[in-house]
Amino acid sequence: MNEILKVEHLKKYFVKKGIFGSKAATVKAADDITFSLKKGEVFVLAGESGSGKSTIAKLILKSIEPDSGNVIFEDQIIGEDEESLKKIRMNCQMIHQDPYDSINPRMKIRDIVAEPLEIHKMGNKSERVQRVTEVLKEVKLEPAEEIIKKYPHMLSGGQRQRVVLARALSVKPKIIIADEPVSMLDMSIRAEMLELMHELQKKYDVSFIYITHDLATARYFGQRIGILYLGRIVEIGTIDEVLQKPRHPYTQALIDAISEPDPKNLYKEKKIRINEPIDVDVYEGCRFRSRCPYQIDKCKEDPALEKVGDDHFCACYVELD
Ligand SMILES: Nc1ncnc2c1ncn2[C@@H]1O[C@H](COP(=O)(O)OP(=O)(O)O)[C@@H](O)[C@H]1O
Ligand SMILES: [Mg+2]
Repeated sequence: MNEILKVEHLKKYFVKKGIFGSKAATVKAADDITFSLKKGEVFVLAGESGSGKSTIAKLILKSIEPDSGNVIFEDQIIGEDEESLKKIRMNCQMIHQDPYDSINPRMKIRDIVAEPLEIHKMGNKSERVQRVTEVLKEVKLEPAEEIIKKYPHMLSGGQRQRVVLARALSVKPKIIIADEPVSMLDMSIRAEMLELMHELQKKYDVSFIYITHDLATARYFGQRIGILYLGRIVEIGTIDEVLQKPRHPYTQALIDAISEPDPKNLYKEKKIRINEPIDVDVYEGCRFRSRCPYQIDKCKEDPALEKVGDDHFCACYVELD
């Protein structure tokens, strides 16, 4: 297959220390996560805050160690040796939600964008300056000759996120992981940034893992999607299948949350209130059980992902229409 990245049974549990005498609790941030990314594909990881999206990104880049499971890049297990770590860190670049997480406010734009080239010792100094100018033009930060002399605070939020995109593209990576790249931007400039990512994704034929809690942007940008709920993928498949024929009640709830508000339905009770607090041991049985209107006795056992269509898998006992 033309799979560039495989994530196999990744597991990462955190122990949260109890405060003020409360008991310590285990958070299963990533629990048996398996998916693959094809060359040139945009795979979306979607789920609410706290579902484990950023943990999975960190596990792929080995900025945190998994409890178990493997990350396989171009048929090589990452972390087996130093070489493999260098390889993933060069070929897989990250875009964070907050540009300030990845750029140093005291550095000029030229040095920020050139930094990955320097780390990976690509080109000599003048070649690097040339590449920086070129990639700034590609993200439409012009005149690039002026922009390179500026500091991050002299740019707008949208421009800063373009700098981060330019920096990620500078080394011509094979994969970009974009962790909620537009969620901190003003509504008015989100579409612009998404369009730009879409355009450059095609131009570079770079594979993307696009992390979001927003299914509307997922539909615009992605080809396949995994729906995460409390550390588990509960539904996975092509965007068209999953978003048009959602099988998991949680996916349906997420889709409900983005559907056009019809004034007629404004005061109707939604079938699922997806922000209801959870008060049972959520890791026992189906994790969505306590918030699910369709729960049956069997849901006390953990459901596995089952094939429900062409390239479409769902972990739920209930057959929804
Ligand atoms: N270093 C950590 N120590 C303890 N708990 C953590 C740590 N990192 C993440 N978590 C917990 O793991 C869960 C998943 O977090 P995260 O991956 O950041 O979710 P998301 O990116 O989907 O919002 C959350 O409950 C979070 O509080
Ligand atoms: Mg996150």
